[in-house]
Amino acid sequence: MTEIPEHLLKRSAARKAALSGEAPSEESSESTAVEAAAPAAAPAVAASAPVPEVYVEPAPEPVAPYVEAYEGRKKMPFWILPVLLFLPVWGSFYYGTLERVPQGLTGLLGEGEELYVESGCSGCHGAEGRGGIGPAFYGGELHQTFTTLEDQLVWIAQGSAVVGQGQNYASPDGRERLVGGGMPGFGLGAANELDFEQILAVTLFERTQFDPDEDLAIRDLELTEQMNLMIETGELEPLLAAEGLNIHDILDPEGLTPEIVNAYLQPARDALAAQEG
Ligand code: HEC
Repeated sequence: MTEIPEHLLKRSAARKAALSGEAPSEESSESTAVEAAAPAAAPAVAASAPVPEVYVEPAPEPVAPYVEAYEGRKKMPFWILPVLLFLPVWGSFYYGTLERVPQGLTGLLGEGEELYVESGCSGCHGAEGRGGIGPAFYGGELHQTFTTLEDQLVWIAQGSAVVGQGQNYASPDGRERLVGGGMPGFGLGAANELDFEQILAVTLFERTQFDPDEDLAIRDLELTEQMNLMIETGELEPLLAAEGLNIHDILDPEGLTPEIVNAYLQPARDALAAQEG
């Protein structure tokens, strides 16, 4: 904007005031008087020249708080872009140098952990086995009911309906547990059929993870490791086949006994007994 000489501004103000009928302010009349007294400073041409409109800068509009926040934000440091661009390259180098550390449970226990959620056990017995609609497994509860894992496996395959209302479903030497109803079976014909390996997996998971300090849990853990080993090496399959069994058989809950279950576990039990001498 070009500077408008001070005296012109004052004169324009005085004229405007005169046109609108207002008395010119003392200051402006004074200054015109001064100017008139010094004709050299204000030639007549300037007075008759059209006076440019005085530009008044409009008051700034109020800034919305979010705009203010945006303007006040921390700017990205200048070095961030090259770093971000290089990150995937560095990541792919770094990834190759990492050891594959096994995470969480593996083998039968890993499978059991997954099934415990996927088959709905956790929904009724709690994610940590602390109970809900179904009883708690925690703190030795499970081992008081079932003194062997075979007995527990039979129960999970059968459920409340097959055992029958009011019947004792616990191990003969366990605490008495009478069926009140509500536990679904998972054997042949069930809505959510699991094969032998799957029921074994979830049984072992419950017995070893919810009560890991029990002597019984430690024995179950030894058996689990032996089973895992024999499954991995392919040793178990022919031994079971010789008995007409397959680890992926779906158990018929009717007439299922601990002896039938034990037939699947016998090869691993034999191997453990041989190791102990
Ligand atoms: C719909 C709810 C429900 C689901 C799903 C369920 N249970 Fe149960 N469970 C029960 C009830 C109820 C009982 C008590 C049995 C009764 O009174 O008839 C029980 C009892 C048990 C017991 C006996 C515990 C004791 O000490 O008495 C075990 C073991 C068990 N369930 C394991 C499982 C497993 C493993 C699964 C998943 C594969 C499972 N449950 C899924 C409701 C359920």
